[in-house]
Amino acid sequence: MLIIAHRGASGEYPENSILALEKAIEQGADGIEIDLQYHQPSGEFIVFHDRNLLRLTGKTGNINNYTLDELLKTSIGKNQHIITLAQAIALIPKKLILNLELKVSTSEQLLIETLMQKLQQVLNHAVSMKHITWPQLYISSFNHFLINYGKTLLPKANFAALIAHCPLNYATFSETMALASINQDIDCLNQELVSDIHRHGLTCWVFTVDDIDDIKQCLALNVDAIFTNFPQRTREIIRQI
Ligand code: G3P
Ligand code: CA
Repeated sequence: MLIIAHRGASGEYPENSILALEKAIEQGADGIEIDLQYHQPSGEFIVFHDRNLLRLTGKTGNINNYTLDELLKTSIGKNQHIITLAQAIALIPKKLILNLELKVSTSEQLLIETLMQKLQQVLNHAVSMKHITWPQLYISSFNHFLINYGKTLLPKANFAALIAHCPLNYATFSETMALASINQDIDCLNQELVSDIHRHGLTCWVFTVDDIDDIKQCLALNVDAIFTNFPQRTREIIRQI
């Protein structure tokens, strides 16, 4: 079972920060998940979970109310600042999984096209500069419109549908979306669903798994990867089970 550091080693360091990414690598995570917000004024992606700055920075308002420069100077604690997607990619070693979660709630086609074309540009550049390879890139989202369109632009990347509800089966996802993975909320996990995902030829990744009983459940159900805020501690727990 692969260990994916959720927002980096975010249990101990500011989520989605350079420090959290570096610590996740140091702690031996198999992969790193980061959240991406599209900053409309600059057309850039920033590594940030929320649309609003308040929870993580104490500043008020939507990220689009600030310039990119202001955002990149914004503290997120422990001497860390908001970073761009390109800065995050530069830190990721070859062979480590990089899961980019696109936090975009719109179904507006024009915006989806604009931001996915930007993502295509950033990723094509990173691959051509040999900063990253297609096999290590996983793109996920709760927004399945975006996943569907993204696959046409980035056919060599792996795509995953994020699911936070409890579906009856995964036939729709496998047949209509040609995904690599289903990334499922731990709260809806059961043997039937994991088997169903596997039967459709997809891998099953589960979020967010920090608790020892949840780790045991994922191992017992043959889950392929878990997202955890504590990669080192989770690795140690798995070793001892
Ligand atoms: O990618 C899995 C998980 O990160 C999705 O939920 O809110 O932690 O981004 P959230
Ligand atoms: Ca996420």
